[in-house]
Amino acid sequence: MSIDYSQKIPNNVNLSDDRALQRALEHWQPAFLDWWRDMGPDGSHNFDVYLRTAVSVDPSGWAHFEHVKMPDYRWGIFLQPADPERKIHFGEHKGEAAWQDVPGEHRANLRRIIVTQGDTEPASVEQQRHLGLTAPSLYDLRNLFQVNVEEGRHLWAMVYLLHRYFGRDGREEAEALLERRSGDQDNPRILGAFNERTPDWLSFFMFTYFTDRDGKFQLCALAESGFDPLARTTRFMLTEEAHHMFVGESGVSRVIQRTCEVMRERGIEDPEQVRAAGVIDLETIQRYLNFHYSVTIDLFGADQSSNAATFYSAGLKGRFEEGKRADDHVLKGDAYRVLEVRDGRLGEREVPMLNALNEVLRDDYIKDSMGGVARWNKVIEKAGIPFRLTVPHKAFNRKIGTLANVHVSPQGELISEAEWKANERKWLATDEDRAFVASLMGRVVEPGKYANWIAPPAVGINRQPMDFEYVRFN
Ligand SMILES: [Fe+2]
Ligand SMILES: [Fe+2]
Repeated sequence: MSIDYSQKIPNNVNLSDDRALQRALEHWQPAFLDWWRDMGPDGSHNFDVYLRTAVSVDPSGWAHFEHVKMPDYRWGIFLQPADPERKIHFGEHKGEAAWQDVPGEHRANLRRIIVTQGDTEPASVEQQRHLGLTAPSLYDLRNLFQVNVEEGRHLWAMVYLLHRYFGRDGREEAEALLERRSGDQDNPRILGAFNERTPDWLSFFMFTYFTDRDGKFQLCALAESGFDPLARTTRFMLTEEAHHMFVGESGVSRVIQRTCEVMRERGIEDPEQVRAAGVIDLETIQRYLNFHYSVTIDLFGADQSSNAATFYSAGLKGRFEEGKRADDHVLKGDAYRVLEVRDGRLGEREVPMLNALNEVLRDDYIKDSMGGVARWNKVIEKAGIPFRLTVPHKAFNRKIGTLANVHVSPQGELISEAEWKANERKWLATDEDRAFVASLMGRVVEPGKYANWIAPPAVGINRQPMDFEYVRFN
């Protein structure tokens, strides 16, 4: 399953056998490159960046590293190898052969799923495009760019499906993916969190930890799909996603480590003193965490959703690790608990599980995202500092679903609007917090040097020495 790099569009799908498709994609390619030039990492086009490129889709195919200019990165179309025996393993079509083409009755829903996923990919590149100007080291700058080129490739992955399986509508959707802009008034990206700003590196690390992890869960659910090309595409995307979450988890961890070092050296705990020492106080890190976590769990959608039921029963989108679950994979008559507000209190209610599948995926996500927070707390604990980071209650700061119209504290108490107003600044990053974090941002370009507010990583990329030149500016 090696990838043919001799072609204009690298691929492992025998693109040259389908001339019409190849021509359509070669027509889209310059539009993509124009978009990259306009909306990709600011001022970076001439840099040589130490990037990792997939040369095959098996795990060892990731060993290829070299300095490349990002506009020359070989974006392409890579699918996990097909299993000719594969069966649909959930929903009403359970046991039937997986679809190699789009079933007519599911066409509109599948297109919508693919477009929604595809839209998040260029959105995050747009959100992050200014960050290179304030990277805390060459190592971090390179990681940002690696994430960016891979999000670009994820866009290619979805555009391939649109072009290959959805005819003219698919081609129009592929164009629209290059026309929407993150945060644009008139033509924004589809999902809320992808129109938020990623103004500083703490936001970037929180985004790659929390929001790229939403990507992981969505991709895992799509990797179960009865539509085989979607399953195979998303499975390969997941190998790239793992790196994005690593960047987030290790990034936040290094920020915490540096803060703790300074707190211990100077024997300080007061956030004002911590800030005066030029590092980010743990309280601010908690408020950033609260923001990114709550905005991200909204991405899973309404807690009860007939669309989610349809997507599952039709075999389009499964659950996280569908194949490992011991139930009947049809879920008719099963129940699930969702949160609700009754008589002025937050409680739980049983609803049909099929309607609650967004909530099921959100709960799996929550479990997974807590792991990293526990590891961050280990860093604080090791430094002998009594502070602990916490994940806020699921109902905190929600904008989607039943919880959108109530105020809930991070501890999960239902509170009045006045109480919310009085405490919001303690719970969510304020303009002042963001201004402080922004004041620390400044580009560090000397190999092996790091900004004061972040600790160096434990090891280099591809085991390169600490003073390796990950980015050459030319
Ligand atoms: Fe992605
Ligand atoms: Fe990602």
